[in-house]
Amino acid sequence: MYAIYKVCTHLGCLYGWSSLTKRFEWSLATGASFNLTAQYIEGPAPRSLDHFVIQVQDASGKVIAQTDANGGPVQVTDPNATLAIDTGKRIEGKRHS
Ligand code: FES
Repeated sequence: MYAIYKVCTHLGCLYGWSSLTKRFEWSLATGASFNLTAQYIEGPAPRSLDHFVIQVQDASGKVIAQTDANGGPVQVTDPNATLAIDTGKRIEGKRHS
């Protein structure tokens, strides 16, 4: 599971998911596009999309999993787990060349 910031890393557009192209992208053809895990594919954006830190907590509130330092995915295997998404901890997407 990922928590992806819904603001483009180019000029701050609000992108959406396209079920046709299977990408996150802006509605205009000149916009950037990103894959399902928010990695840059093409367009004017200088880097991949940003992620937020997710903490998975068990029923007692103990943190049992957390997003890694690179914004990598977190596994949620406990059906009773609670997710806490810290929008104050944004992990910048990687720059591309
Ligand atoms: S703001 Fe998203 S491509 Fe420019």
